[in-house]
Amino acid sequence: MTSSPAPISLGHDRTGTDAFLDLPELLATRLLVQGNSGSGKSHLLRRLLEQTARLVQQVVIDPEGDFITLADHYDHLAINVETQSEAALQAAGERARIHRASVILNLESLEAEGQLRAVGAFLNGLFEAPRAYWYPVLVVVDEAQLFAPTASGDTSDEARRLSLGAMTNLMCRGRKRGLAGIIATQRLAKLAKNVAAEASNFLMGRTFLDIDMARAADLLGMERRAAEAFRDLERGQFMALGPALSRRPKRITIGPVTTASRGAGPLLMPLEKPVVPVEELRDLILQDEPEFAPRPRREPPLPAPDLLAQLDAYADRRAHEDSEETISLQAQEIDASQIWELVCETTGDEKSYFNSLATLYQDFQMRARLHGYPRSILDMNAFRRMLGSVRSGISHTDSLSEEWQDILRRSEDLPEDLQAFYLLLAQAARIGAPCPSDEKLARLYGTHSLSRARRQLHYLEEREMIILRKEGTRRAVAIIGPAWQTTFD
Ligand SMILES: Nc1ncnc2c1ncn2[C@@H]1O[C@H](COP(=O)(O)OP(=O)(O)OP(=O)(O)O)[C@@H](O)[C@H]1O
Ligand SMILES: [Mg+2]
Repeated sequence: MTSSPAPISLGHDRTGTDAFLDLPELLATRLLVQGNSGSGKSHLLRRLLEQTARLVQQVVIDPEGDFITLADHYDHLAINVETQSEAALQAAGERARIHRASVILNLESLEAEGQLRAVGAFLNGLFEAPRAYWYPVLVVVDEAQLFAPTASGDTSDEARRLSLGAMTNLMCRGRKRGLAGIIATQRLAKLAKNVAAEASNFLMGRTFLDIDMARAADLLGMERRAAEAFRDLERGQFMALGPALSRRPKRITIGPVTTASRGAGPLLMPLEKPVVPVEELRDLILQDEPEFAPRPRREPPLPAPDLLAQLDAYADRRAHEDSEETISLQAQEIDASQIWELVCETTGDEKSYFNSLATLYQDFQMRARLHGYPRSILDMNAFRRMLGSVRSGISHTDSLSEEWQDILRRSEDLPEDLQAFYLLLAQAARIGAPCPSDEKLARLYGTHSLSRARRQLHYLEEREMIILRKEGTRRAVAIIGPAWQTTFD
């Protein structure tokens, strides 16, 4: 099966050409959307959410309850914050990451003060999730000026600080944690500067006020006069700029959406797949499932039973969907070399060596989905093993050989973080290449410390996996078992 990846299109440019969005790039570089009321920001966010719903986890901070209709058609869990305590919301934020649940935080029933507290607590929960769960998430915040305001309003200082702090964390420190902020605002001049400044992608819609236009021009590095053009944009038109959108400012028109904004009435277009009736869904969700996700090392504060039950049910449903996908895939031919290629793509650049396994695995799953494979095509352990082989430099064909399979079995006895390290040595020895340098070994071990990498060689020797030979400052390694040897480096 080789269906080509489905590109994500936000709409089209002046020439009618698709305006594509580079999702992996967006995850790393964040997005700011600005435009006056009615310019089409919420429509744009909806388009983006719909196009990426099946590819990446999403969290939507929804002050108006605009986006809850997405929950009817995708996997989002709508959380009505009115009934939840702050502690419960923080716990829910953490749990949403652990279960990788897409969530819509519906704030419409709260006063401004309560909205700030709820958003602060939930975002902090996302931020505080244990490192093992730092999978990429799109965090979409509509009306972001409410949650990261420049000036104090009617709300208490405490609530404002909580929310502003969480928004600042999201935009300034979230990337490492896999949190990709996408924020939209009517009034750029009312949005805290440090929050806006961290986005590298911009979609600027119709803007009338000089002060907003000036801020937009500053952010985009444009002449203020050039920003006058923002006045002439039509509803649904935006100037796009940034690494995930376009290298030069480009005017685009946002395309249609499939789900309706709640105010605009019911769904108008046919769905991709039939909606399961609620009662059936309940049975589906509550049926017994094997253990789905490991519990966090550190328990989040005060559990909120209802919400957590919902999140657990969500996880169960996802597990069920994945297993169904796997079954349907058995009928199709799986192209093993293509899976190998997808794993190669996740480790394309130097930086990837310092990413967590969870992040790389999520990246792989997204690529697999883009090629029409289910997320579960490789489980995390199988992915880790294949990644180790890929990083050793062996070819796909050679990796299938009996001798390499034997090496893989031997590597299984080692701690996980040393397996790829061992495979790198094994491959160098297999082809009689020089012993890998300290730098190469350190990178593979995910450390910048050369001495730490060298210590691992001694550890492997103690474990009787390798024999280390020295000639002055040069060294060579022999692999116990197949008796392959590297040359001296
Ligand atoms: N690209 C588009 N194509 C078709 N309709 C659009 C488009 N963009 C916006 N609209 C329609 O225009 C109206 C206003 O858009 P939207 O609600 O997205 O504006 P907004 O910028 O979010 O405004 P506010 O700041 O007041 O929330 C909606 O009815 C929406 O459906
Ligand atoms: Mg809106």
